[in-house]
Amino acid sequence: GGGGVLSELADSRERARAALPREVWDYYEAGSGDEVTLGEAEAAWRDFRLRPRVLQDVSRVDLATRLLGTVAASPFVVAPMAFHALAHPDGECATVRGAGDAGCLTVVSTRASRTLEDIGAAATGPWWFQAYLMRDRGLTEALVRRAAAAGARAVVLTVDTPYVGRKGRVSGVRIAVRDDQYLVNLAQHLVPGAVAREAAEQDPSMTPDTIGRLAEVSGLPVVVKGVLRGDEAARCVEAGAAGVVVSTHGGRQLDRVVPSAHALPDVLEGVGGRVPVLVDGGIRSGTDALVALALGADAVLVGRPVLWALAAGGAEGVREVLHGLAEDLRHVMAVAGAARPDALDRSMVTTA
Ligand code: FNR
Repeated sequence: GGGGVLSELADSRERARAALPREVWDYYEAGSGDEVTLGEAEAAWRDFRLRPRVLQDVSRVDLATRLLGTVAASPFVVAPMAFHALAHPDGECATVRGAGDAGCLTVVSTRASRTLEDIGAAATGPWWFQAYLMRDRGLTEALVRRAAAAGARAVVLTVDTPYVGRKGRVSGVRIAVRDDQYLVNLAQHLVPGAVAREAAEQDPSMTPDTIGRLAEVSGLPVVVKGVLRGDEAARCVEAGAAGVVVSTHGGRQLDRVVPSAHALPDVLEGVGGRVPVLVDGGIRSGTDALVALALGADAVLVGRPVLWALAAGGAEGVREVLHGLAEDLRHVMAVAGAARPDALDRSMVTTA
C-alpha cells in the first residue's frame, strides 16, 4: 500500500521498543532541549513538492552512488551512532555486515562498541570512520590512523558537538554499558581514571585547521558533519573538507536549529558543487531521499531506523531496512521519471 516503507519502519520501531531496556530506548529516541528540532525533522521533508518528468525510459532504475571514490549500490548511508552493542550483542559488526549486504556505506562512530579492527574484518561493504576531536588530540590522531589501517575510506569529522547536547529524557539516567563495550576504541590508548575521561571528551577549541590535520594524519579525505549554513560549509571546503554533511545530529545538539531539509539548499549554494554534500535527519522513506537528492544532495544518512532494525533483527534486520528504503526510492524515482540519481535536479522540487 501507499505507506509501505513507513509502516514497515513503524513496525520495526515498535519491535525495538519492546526488545530494548527502557533507558536504552530513551537514549536512542532522545533529542536535546525541548526536542523542537527532533520533532520537526521528518515533517520538514514533506514541505517540498515534486515536479515529475514523464516519458523517460525508467524500465531500469540504477541507484549506484559514488562518494569520494567509494562506490555504493545505494545512496542510503548508515549514520554514525554510538554503542550499537546496546541494540545487539554483535554491535557494529552486525551493522556493517547488514549494510554492506544491502550495498550501503556505513559510518562508524568514535563511540562504537566494537574495535575498529573487528568492524573492518566484519565489513562486507565500504565504511568511513566518524571522529570527534578529543581534548587529547593525540588520541584522535591515533584513532584515525587505526581506522585507515582497518579499512576506513574517509574520516567524518563531527563539528556540531563542542559539548554534548543536554537531553532531558535521559538526564541523570545511567545506562549499564559493559566495560568491554564502553568506548573500546579509546580505551586502549588511555590510562584508566579521571584524567583519561577528560582526555576522551570533545575539544571545544576546535578550529578549521583540524580538517587538514586529520587528512594529513590519516591519509584519508575528511568530510565535515554538522553544518547548517552555506557560509560555514564554504569555510570548511576552503579549509580542505572533501565533503559536508548537513545535519542537526538527529535533534540531539542545539535545539531549535533550522531543519536539515531547509538548511540543505543554502549549504549546497555555499559549496557550489566543489565537494559532495550529504544530509541526514528524519529521512524515513524513498520520497524523503528523492527530495534530498533532487535538491542536490549526493547521499542521505539514516540514523535511528538502523538501530531499530539492529535491535529487532541483527545484521539481517539492518539489511532489510536499507533494502526496503532503496526499493522504495527505486519505485518513486521511476514514477518521478528519473532512471539514475544524476537524472534528478533542482527543477524537480518546489516548496509546498
Ligand atoms: C547519533 N548521532 C551521532 N553522530 C555522530 O556524529 N557521532 C555519534 O557518535 C552519534 N551518536 C548518535 C547516537 C544516537 C543514539 C543517535 C540517535 C544519533 C547522530 C547521527 O549520526 C545522525 O546525525 C542522526 O541520527 C540522523 O537523524 P535520524 O535519521 O536519526 O533522524
